[in-house]
Amino acid sequence: MDKTPQTKPRDSWTFSPEINAEIRRAAETGIYDIRGGGAKRRVPHFDDLLFLGASISRYPLEGYREKCDTSVTLGTRFAKKPIELKIPVTIAGMSFGALSGPAKEALGRGATMAGTSTTTGDGGMTNEERGHSEKLIYQYLPSRYGMNPDDLRRADAIEIVVGQGAKPGGGGMLLGQKITERVANMRNLPVGIDQRSACRHPDWTGPDDLEIKILEIREITNWEKPIYIKIGGARPYYDTALAVKAGADVVVLDGMQGGTAATQDVFIEHVGQPTLACIRPAVKALQDLGMHRKVQLIVSGGIRTGADVAKALALGADAVAIGTAALVALGENDPKWAAEYTKLGTTADAYDDWHEGKDPAGITTQDPELMKRLDPIEAARKLRNYLAVLTLECQTIARACGKSHVHNLEPEDLCALTIEAAAMAGVPLSGTNWIPGQGGF
Ligand SMILES: Cc1cc2nc3c(=O)[nH]c(=O)nc-3n(C[C@H](O)[C@H](O)[C@H](O)COP(=O)(O)O)c2cc1C
Repeated sequence: MDKTPQTKPRDSWTFSPEINAEIRRAAETGIYDIRGGGAKRRVPHFDDLLFLGASISRYPLEGYREKCDTSVTLGTRFAKKPIELKIPVTIAGMSFGALSGPAKEALGRGATMAGTSTTTGDGGMTNEERGHSEKLIYQYLPSRYGMNPDDLRRADAIEIVVGQGAKPGGGGMLLGQKITERVANMRNLPVGIDQRSACRHPDWTGPDDLEIKILEIREITNWEKPIYIKIGGARPYYDTALAVKAGADVVVLDGMQGGTAATQDVFIEHVGQPTLACIRPAVKALQDLGMHRKVQLIVSGGIRTGADVAKALALGADAVAIGTAALVALGENDPKWAAEYTKLGTTADAYDDWHEGKDPAGITTQDPELMKRLDPIEAARKLRNYLAVLTLECQTIARACGKSHVHNLEPEDLCALTIEAAAMAGVPLSGTNWIPGQGGF
């Protein structure tokens, strides 16, 4: 009889069951994994920061009697018609093609009810979206899919996309399943064939050419519309400085947790810096150029709660943008479709095969039957409610820190729970006055 004591078999940390499964999947198919969403692994984030709140040395504001303003003006540098928002949360650019027509309509309706803007994406401007969005930002992308000079004039601001946090240096994908006749017509592509967006603009290679491009767009739009430049979280200090030099009115900075409709998993998880780590270097660049608050900064990538909004603002952002959270508010990944997620081999909250176009919630699909499941009016109501909660939560925190405007939140209101977060956010480790790594970015 074997007398060897039985021990529990040990999983390897290096070759974990997930890693082994991926090796087997790759060996079977010879194709890298594509998915939607943002980075899934844990990296330092806003959860690693806390607000201090007021007590004797700081004085809080009274919730019901004392005002705490949440309005934001974007594009004050050069544009004749800056964008006025009631709340510091905007809807990020998500393409028609990746999203269904009803989803785009719902985003426009919900954002408008909440007093904020929404943004087109890599697929052009739909009439539903323009019609239902009081303030619509038009993306000018490397792919030029759906680019129409008339739409530049129909927009309220232009966002030149240089990169995205989910894939800085890379382009997006839209697989054939989602390229219906309407999507194909808008993008000048054949129906049903996989498409890969370009990773860089065809007609400029650096900040000097970008400056010329911006002037061209300003001329087309009569110097009325603010020009945003969107960058992925790669080298935020230099990229922000160069965007300002090129003439941006607004910089949109998207960190590595930022969602995407579809790209390689290896890209999402291994390229780019966490959102938390990107904000202070970008703000420092603006401060070094004397442009903080003159060129506005919008931060995105993993914003979920009013606390996340307040923390991004306290670190120096003027506003935040949300993508994934807005989709969840509309009904994406809702457990009410649990049985259908099971059939797709996944679960509600883990579902990320948005590129396949089989979304049971009718949001990341072009299937006419699935699309019918999303009622844009009901979905818009939910988005409006969610945006109201984000704003109220942010306002509550600002009042507790004694601020009469959410923009008065500052790094001094924060401490960090970990050394990593303290170093990245440039705020003291909780219980100390120690900010690791101070002395330059
Ligand atoms: C479904 C989907 C489609 C997207 N399409 C685009 C796009 O066309 N252009 C773009 O610049 N970013 C696109 N993004 C990225 C968002 O604009 C934004 O940077 C990101 O979603 C922010 O992170 P969050 O999802 O964690 O809020 C997309 C994101 C999602 C989830």
